[in-house]
Amino acid sequence: MLAGRKVLIGITGGIAAYKSALLVRLLVKAGAEVQVIMTPSASAFVSPLTLATLSKRPVISEYFKVETGEWANHVELGLWPDLMLIAPLTANTLSKMVHGLSDNLLMTTYLSARCPVVVAPAMDLDMWKHATTRRNMQLLEQDGVYVIPPATGELASGLFGEGRMAEPEEQFEWIQNFFSKSQSLSGQKVLITAGPTYEALDPVRFIGNHSSGKMGFALAKACAAQGAEVHLVHGPVSIPVPQHPQIKVYSIRSAQEMFAQCELLFPNMAITICSAAVADYRPEVIQEEKIKKKGDTLQLNLVKNPDILKTLGHAKKPHQVVIGFALETTNELENAQGKLHAKQADLIVLNSMRKDGSGFGTDTNHVWLVEVGRVRELPLASKDHIAESIVQAIIEIKDEKQV
Ligand code: CTP
Repeated sequence: MLAGRKVLIGITGGIAAYKSALLVRLLVKAGAEVQVIMTPSASAFVSPLTLATLSKRPVISEYFKVETGEWANHVELGLWPDLMLIAPLTANTLSKMVHGLSDNLLMTTYLSARCPVVVAPAMDLDMWKHATTRRNMQLLEQDGVYVIPPATGELASGLFGEGRMAEPEEQFEWIQNFFSKSQSLSGQKVLITAGPTYEALDPVRFIGNHSSGKMGFALAKACAAQGAEVHLVHGPVSIPVPQHPQIKVYSIRSAQEMFAQCELLFPNMAITICSAAVADYRPEVIQEEKIKKKGDTLQLNLVKNPDILKTLGHAKKPHQVVIGFALETTNELENAQGKLHAKQADLIVLNSMRKDGSGFGTDTNHVWLVEVGRVRELPLASKDHIAESIVQAIIEIKDEKQV
């Protein structure tokens, strides 16, 4: 699985750096090609000679060698790997990654890298808990960087708590999983709708809903993690939009705008996931001027919006997979099955508003996967986790279509 995979390992100046030698050994033994880049301070913690011997390649840490003028091309280094791992990730390098500070070869390579990047943070517990670190970790994840979280245990300071770098064996397992999973959707185009739509009433008001976009964004990230080229069409949201080299983002406001964008993209898509909470109706007329308060009641005339999922479901070619969502409060399963049929979807992800921890705005979800003749319940889990399970189900459906 790792044979021939190119892994670039960035080692920064933390005590856990010595453990990277073990990871390099595990990867090389499994057949991976490993290139190590060290920050200048990392060599105080682990010897470049050890890493060069284990990786069977010279370790790079300087832009050029003073004696020979031979220089390391960070753009080429950034293009070389299938995966870049920075372990240990110190608070200093974390901060540089978030701000794009490129004062060493590892940072310029990170900024040039086109491959997925994963980090294994290692810090003392107070540094790890600090508000700045929390904020930086959040920003790093928004940039599409994966994180192998630190464990709780004894730290170099003698304190006990969270911040201990994940063991090399755990990092190795993460890398193995990454390569085994990332095959499934590589090169596939995936369209995802997410968030609410806003239907304008006048220049200042709209009809909208509470959809946060979290589920759709989690799906976009899960598909990208499987190697897909994701086209994410989303309505107005207040959470950060995923920034990932494999996710192209289209920001729209109304159902009609979402529909137009999806119709353009759909013919080239292998998979379409409609997770947006699209407004079923829009005001018949958008008033040019602000509606003034007059009588005790106000009548609004609404007209039907296009049903994006239904239109695409009916237009799909045999090789295309179309997935929808259903948010129900009564007769959940029956309604979801009805939608599966009416919208010609291959799968409906059913959300129940009656379950705790699911629905709009929550970080968790409890769903059922409804297909023709098959219903599966997924246990309550984080939206990221649920997204991974949904993507697995989609891969199965896609594989079945190809048989
Ligand atoms: N959907 C869509 N376009 C719409 C309405 C809904 O693409 N105009 C999609 C949603 O993204 C979701 C699915 O259809 O995947 C289910 O939406 P839902 O609102 O639950 O179903 P409706 O068919 O609108 O039925 P109802 O509101 O009556 O339950």
